[in-house]
This record gives sequence, structure tokens and C-alpha cells, in this order.
Amino acid sequence: MALHLITGIAGFIGSSIARALLERGEQVRGIDNLATGKRENIKEIADRIDFREADLLDLDAMKEACHGVECVYHQAAIPSVPKSVLDPLGSNQANVDGTVNILIAARDAKVRRVVYAASSSAYGDTPTLPKREDMTPNPISPYAVAKLASEYYMVSFFRCYGLETVSLRYFNIFGPRQDPTSPYSGVLAKFITQMLRGEQPTIFGDGSQSRDFTYIDNAVSANLLAAQAPTAKVAGRVFNVATGTRVDLNQTFELLKKMTGYSGNVKYAAERGGDIKHSLADITLATKALGYEPKVNFEEGLQRTVEWYRGQSKAAGA
Ligand code: UD1
Repeated sequence: MALHLITGIAGFIGSSIARALLERGEQVRGIDNLATGKRENIKEIADRIDFREADLLDLDAMKEACHGVECVYHQAAIPSVPKSVLDPLGSNQANVDGTVNILIAARDAKVRRVVYAASSSAYGDTPTLPKREDMTPNPISPYAVAKLASEYYMVSFFRCYGLETVSLRYFNIFGPRQDPTSPYSGVLAKFITQMLRGEQPTIFGDGSQSRDFTYIDNAVSANLLAAQAPTAKVAGRVFNVATGTRVDLNQTFELLKKMTGYSGNVKYAAERGGDIKHSLADITLATKALGYEPKVNFEEGLQRTVEWYRGQSKAAGA
């Protein structure tokens, strides 16, 4: 039974990794500054984890958190493109300085491996699809630049200090516990909760933009595989985590109508600044090196997510 540290454990993805590790009988420690994470997300596992309210920018706290740890899953971030456009300094502090801190702490504590939540936004708006890891990055937003800079730090800490690092470029992860309440929330969390309440969702643009929406269980399994894969195959490398398929927002809205029972129309508004048009991953590399396979496809994931939010709204109304 090894000890694992999750940064951003109170977030949607961090708390999902925590539950998966506990199910495997592993020991879990987690840090979160609760800026975007919520205690609610770790409520049912609170007595089984070592939770510490701490900020990535507190190097001493990170050093203490890394003590005795086998593997770090670095999920903590301010995960928003539009927010980073408004506050590039804040994005850089959390998403770059915070990463360097956890890397220093992990290096000094002799952690075996750090798995990092990188972002598909590194690819930017280049027309070539699907996106492959060997393509030249072309980040647009400050968020994308920060996430990419941290990826380079991952590689640097492997090359300079021998700390094993693996970066997973997430493509639009969605599922239960994703926060639907912020203006920066992911589109699926927003649409599902709005449509279940009978409220009209808004599509920014004409709805032809497409994404490789990836259900949370796939991202969790990629993290567990990345933590265990042989060093020679993964250390210092970057992998797409996605499904290798894409859907556009109009198709998604139609599917959600059936799943939620919403009978109204969608509203169209101006395209969002900094948006990219299409996103689709080539997942060959992750399949070969990690043994990764998307176990839950988009429709199945969407159905499960709708059921979860439905359960939440019933519980809240009860
Ligand atoms: C981007 C990044 C992703 C990052 C995420 C964090 C890319 C490819 N992806 O995702 O890596 O983790 O930001 O914020 O750059 N939309 C609507 N109506 C809404 C909300 C959104 O139409 O109410 C549209 C958006 O304009 C966009 C699409 O839905 O075209 C997806 O938006 P969103 O869920 O915010 O994710 P991305 O911006 O693709």
C-alpha cells in the first residue's frame, strides 16, 4: 500500500482520482486551497484521506505534503481559458509557479513519479486534426501558455534531476461533480443542469464547433496507468487523454434533449473570444505506451452524467 498525493483533491478530477485509488486499497493524501475545489466533493471519503488545506504557492506545506509519497497527481490549477484572459498573472501564479513548487517538493522528497494534468489547449487553433503530441504547440490564451509551460517544467525536472514525470493532455473532461455554477464552467455541466431545470441553454456561435469530450472515468484510468507504466515508456513524455472522436454542440444539444426531457430550443449568442473551432485527439501514443483505452464512450458518459445531476437535484429538492 503506497502513499499517493493528489493536488487539487477537492476538485472534480482530483476527487475522482482519490476515490479510484482508495478503491484499490491505496493510501491517499490531498491538498487543496478550496479556491475552486469544494469540501462537498470529498465529503464521503473525508475519513479515509489525509486532507490538508494548503496552497501550492506555500513551498513548506508542499514539502511536508510530499513526505513519504510514492506518486503525485498534480491536478490543482485555475482551469479556465476566459478567466486567464482576465487575470493572466493569477493564472500564471497558480498554473506555473504552483507547478514549480510541487516539482521542487517532489524532487527533494524523492517522490518516484509526478503525473500532471496538462491541457489540449496547448494545440491552439491549428487546422490539422486529429492533434498529435509531436505537433508544434500553438497556445492562444494565457491559460494554455501556463499549462504548456508547466509541461516543459515536467520534462525539465526529468532531464535535470531524474524525477519521473508524465504529462497528460486532457481533452474536455466531463462527468459527475464538475461545477456547473461558474460562468467559466464546462459546457456539458452547464447544459445538463440548465436543461434539467427547464432553463434554456445558450450556444456561443453556430453550434458547429466540436470537441473530443472525454468522460471522467477515462481520465482517471489514464492517471492510474501513467503512475504505473514502465519508466522507459513514459518518463519525461506527454500523452493525449481523450476518446479520439468528436461531436459538435448542436448534436450534443439534441442528445441532451432526449436524455434530460427538455423540450425547448437552444439560444444562439455571439461566439466566445479565444475559442477554438474543433478539437480532436489522436490517442495512439497513450494506447501504445500506457495501455490506455477510453472505456466509456461519449453517449454513455453523457447519460451517466445526466443521471448524476438528476440525483443531485432530487436530493436538493427532497
Ligand atoms: C478549454 C480547453 C481545455 C480547458 C478548458 C478550461 C481547448 C481545446 N480546451 O476548453 O483544455 O481545460 O478550456 O476552461 O482549448 N459553450 C457554449 N455555451 C456555454 C458554455 C460554453 O456554447 O454555456 C461553448 C464554448 O464557447 C466552446 C465550447 O462550448 O465553444 C466548449 O467550451 P468549454 O466547455 O468552456 O471548454 P473549452 O473552451 O473547449
